[in-house]
Amino acid sequence: MTIIDGKALSAELKAQMAAGMPQIIERYGRVPHLVVILVGENPASQTYVRNKAKGCETVGMKSTVITLPEDITEADLLQQIEALNADDSVDGILVQLPLPKHIREQKVIDTISYEKDVDGFHPMNVARLWQNKPCIVACTPKGIMEMLKAYGIVPNGKRAVVIGRSNIVGKPIAKLLLDANATVTIAHSRTEDLPSITREADILVAAIGKPKFVTADMVKDGAVIIDVGINRQEDGKLCGDVDYESVAPKASFITPVPGGVGPMTITMLLQNTIECFENRMTAR
Ligand code: GUN
Repeated sequence: MTIIDGKALSAELKAQMAAGMPQIIERYGRVPHLVVILVGENPASQTYVRNKAKGCETVGMKSTVITLPEDITEADLLQQIEALNADDSVDGILVQLPLPKHIREQKVIDTISYEKDVDGFHPMNVARLWQNKPCIVACTPKGIMEMLKAYGIVPNGKRAVVIGRSNIVGKPIAKLLLDANATVTIAHSRTEDLPSITREADILVAAIGKPKFVTADMVKDGAVIIDVGINRQEDGKLCGDVDYESVAPKASFITPVPGGVGPMTITMLLQNTIECFENRMTAR
């Protein structure tokens, strides 16, 4: 069994990005600039946003964090986004999710210019992904594919099962695995006899948001296990959607939590910011 070290791979990729920054400055006269908007005071979101800003600093990119009050109106938030869309010094815009209930998430996502949509959530990027056109790919699925590649795991011809059908992870990772010629099944909370399906998986992606949901009896011997979950346990420790202790001995490869998918997600955000920057700089 091999542990897929997302933290180490991230560090490697970030070092490559940092090394490329002088050429970017030489070519374009400035570094890429990511703006992260955080609404309210959700502690988990605060941590994620802090880590995103730290990631920018590590690779020598500019970041700005805008914190807005929990009770900001949807109209005010949309207006802020539109100002950032129009600001030529801003290359990437990320609104940290989830948002307070009075704000429509999809409306916010739709308002971000698709050219600055570093999350890859805008309908234009989603449509282009599903039509096999160049696009910004959502960070978590993109990070998963990078991990598979780095560890020599080839999905071609394999059975892949994705548990979870979210717009952020489940649906896009299914598409990327399909593009890599896996035979893909998307399972979810209404799936009947889930274990019989997950047991067929050569590659199993767990993105359900339920702590330790995937147990050893649900896993085929030698499967590749990708754990997207980040759940806070009662003792304060983090755990994934996979019961690591029981599943790891059966796996050929497995991602740990923390230190697996999480760091890769942030690293792909940095890559996406550079991609949006270069797309805009070369479009004129
Ligand atoms: N909340 C959880 N994951 C994400 C993500 O990838 N992007 C944003 N903007 N919010 C999130």
